[in-house]
Amino acid sequence: MKKYFLILASLSLTNEILAQSLQITTVDNRVSTSLNGEWKYLIDPYENGFYNYRLQPFDEMDNPPKSAYFTDSKPADKTELLEYDWDTSPSISVPGDWNHQFENLEWYEGTIWYRKKFSYQKSEASNRVFIHFGAINYHSKIYLNGEKVGEHTGGFTPFQFEVTDLIQDENSIVVFVNNNRKPEGVPTVNTDWYNYGGITRDVMLIETPQQYVSDYMIQLNPENPNEIKGYIHTDGFNRDLTATISIPELSVSESFTLEERVGAFNFTVNNIEYWSPENPKLYEVIIETEHERITDQIGFRTITTKGADILLNGESIFLRGISIHEENPYREGRARSEADAELLLRWAKDLGCNFVRLAHYPHNRHMIRLANELGLLVWEEVPVYWTIHWENPETYANAEHQLKAMIHRHKNSAATIIWSLANETPVSEARTEFLVKLANTARSLDDTRLLSAAMEVHLEDDPNEYIVGDPLADYVDLVSFNQYVGWYNGAPEKVVRSKWKVPYNKPVFISEFGAGAKAGFHADTLTRFSEEYQADLYTKTLDALSQIENLRGMSPWILVDFKSPRRQLSVIQDGWNRKGLIGNNGEKKMAYFVLQSYYHQKASE
Ligand code: GCU
Repeated sequence: MKKYFLILASLSLTNEILAQSLQITTVDNRVSTSLNGEWKYLIDPYENGFYNYRLQPFDEMDNPPKSAYFTDSKPADKTELLEYDWDTSPSISVPGDWNHQFENLEWYEGTIWYRKKFSYQKSEASNRVFIHFGAINYHSKIYLNGEKVGEHTGGFTPFQFEVTDLIQDENSIVVFVNNNRKPEGVPTVNTDWYNYGGITRDVMLIETPQQYVSDYMIQLNPENPNEIKGYIHTDGFNRDLTATISIPELSVSESFTLEERVGAFNFTVNNIEYWSPENPKLYEVIIETEHERITDQIGFRTITTKGADILLNGESIFLRGISIHEENPYREGRARSEADAELLLRWAKDLGCNFVRLAHYPHNRHMIRLANELGLLVWEEVPVYWTIHWENPETYANAEHQLKAMIHRHKNSAATIIWSLANETPVSEARTEFLVKLANTARSLDDTRLLSAAMEVHLEDDPNEYIVGDPLADYVDLVSFNQYVGWYNGAPEKVVRSKWKVPYNKPVFISEFGAGAKAGFHADTLTRFSEEYQADLYTKTLDALSQIENLRGMSPWILVDFKSPRRQLSVIQDGWNRKGLIGNNGEKKMAYFVLQSYYHQKASE
């Protein structure tokens, strides 16, 4: 018997979210116009285009002078002084970090301005228009036709602003980007990855009806695998609207009235083919109102834990994972496209993975869309990394906003099973309070996925027994930790006598272990940075970790070498972290095959 009923208050969404981001949940199924391609840029280390010489911001003035770069001005005649000209400025590709595009910008950290001119005609005069950015690292200010549209902080989550009242037939969009690392930032100034700056992901204009579907969640009820639940939110003038959700392949068509722009639903469906890595079944889901029809590809599965087990669709699963940074090693820049996602995730599939840890920040949407298609489970995380300023309210607000944007964007992704709150954060009262608050926010937004964080271990009496004794472990579903015995802590022979104590009746996940090796450098197993050393460490570590009773998965560090300013050992590192199983030249190292054979054996169990 079909049962559904209307719940006015959304199940797990606070109005605060609606107010804050009104982010269009998916962008690939909307009426959109790409602004990717060639833009102009201006380097501005003294922010001369933003402040006057008395450090007064031009965009706080009633009539900003023509010297403000966002006005995109021209001299009135040959006598007028103006010390910039967008039309004769150099070009830069968008999307793409600036570091890899120009030698003189390889190490640049500071402000760069972007400008693009474009024509635009709305398809319906009453429609609304939004400017949507996949990500800009790190802080950005957006101006359209000389008017400030908005600002955004956070280098790895999408955002958008409505420009309906500003857009014209001919337009000039100017974007201020600053990627200076800040102590109070998220991440803070200290990371082991390259601080790529710029408009690093797709830019598009999205056009919607006056009252449009601004957000929706359509997922399997974790408590009942024959029930689909969720909500639809619309934005725009407040008129009761009827929405219909259809899943043709399941003969589902459910209509309900949205009141106060919100409608929640749940309905029973039988014969669902559940999504899994072995069978990444995606259904076409259609959402229709009288104003629009949007479709999405959604997989349905449940993910829960029970004691030490991780249950995918009720079956215990072992996560055969690998960690991945968002970088295309051949381009030496931020990964950003479908082709980049294919490169990285095909390597993971070849390695025998059913899981990827997308470190240390939310990756671009192409990675998650492809993971859903290929059957790779995903760990997504916010860059609450190392020594964040735990007692700074602005730092917390920044971290929470990035968490909300991450969950908001992929809450319909079957592949995404874990939200991670932090990586290797030193235990303190302030830190645990900060992270527990984040954990509560995550659970209030999404009660269908697991929470974790990459914690650390410590020693007590026994010099070979590593203990996970982190108060945060009580608040997460998966007890995950990084360990580097045999690399940062002794040599591989030390691994053999190591053991780990994890005093929780929860699944245990090793979020990192590894060693550096320069692809093609061969020596004995005691020589650091040789392929033999790395392979020997993997062999010994896989054997030692298998002794952990509740071990249910791992994501060794890391799929492919990645750029990091912390790695300056000449000839061997040359600015690259060499813990990849694949070199930045695409060459598979000996350890790749050690892990691949371990995963093939695990897959057959
Ligand atoms: C840490 C950290 C990684 C870093 C790695 C390393 O565990 O989480 O971001 O790159 O170790 O030192 O290579």
